[in-house]
Amino acid sequence: MNKKISEAKIYIENNIVEKPEIGLILGSGLGVLGDRAENQKIIDYANIPNFPISTIEGHKGRFIFGEISGRKVAIMQGRFHYYEGYDMKETVFPIWVMRLLGIEKLIVTNAAGGINTDYKPGELMLIKDHINFMGKNPLIGPNLSSMGTRFPDMSNAYSSRLRDLIKSISYKLNIPIREGVYASMTGPAYETPAEIKMLRIMGADAVGMSTVPEVIAANHAGMEVAGISCITNMAAGVLDKPLSHEEVIKTADEVKDKFIKLVISIINEI
Ligand code: HPA
Repeated sequence: MNKKISEAKIYIENNIVEKPEIGLILGSGLGVLGDRAENQKIIDYANIPNFPISTIEGHKGRFIFGEISGRKVAIMQGRFHYYEGYDMKETVFPIWVMRLLGIEKLIVTNAAGGINTDYKPGELMLIKDHINFMGKNPLIGPNLSSMGTRFPDMSNAYSSRLRDLIKSISYKLNIPIREGVYASMTGPAYETPAEIKMLRIMGADAVGMSTVPEVIAANHAGMEVAGISCITNMAAGVLDKPLSHEEVIKTADEVKDKFIKLVISIINEI
């Protein structure tokens, strides 16, 4: 695995000018932020040795290296979902590559269903913590000791320092943000109303099909992580209507302006 990560890293290094310092993963429908980077250098995942390939609608499957607010960023437009058939290690492969490139700060975003009935579609949620309901962990198997320790601490998985910073930025910009617990399910079927009720009882405020594996790998690798969910729909059973991917993409598109504004400010101050 170390060799594979290193080959990917070397390819990227040979194709970019300056080393990125901040990693950014853009969730479903939120990829437009990538277009805001200056001095862009785009690298398709398909061209990077050992990289899996992204397939889902609404995801582009490429890295954008460039500058936002004068900071050097590596932006992932598109990620690898477990439900696409990738194994957990493929899902988090880009995290390991980013870490090897020298990135120590990671901002992860996603589209999520609102479980907390106070929430409304179109709201943003700062991820305070997560519950891994995927039944898998990307660190299972021999420990990648080049990245981190066998039993990584997860008690500050979503950095409290970054959460405080993001809350103060959201206040300054007058962009309200909730703070809650993200539960990850494998998908690709949306949850049943009974599953959502279970997740609510267990303390989850939002649900999605990504993020948790990446955040586990990032913590293992010693990165400081912030997570933001865009509540694109109410989770199953909250409203008397079916869920659809179209609704997810539509809502994400509607919130993109405030999302972009917030994330640009976070990058500036992180
Ligand atoms: N459930 C799971 N994943 C999601 C949802 C949802 O309701 N909305 C966006 N991603």
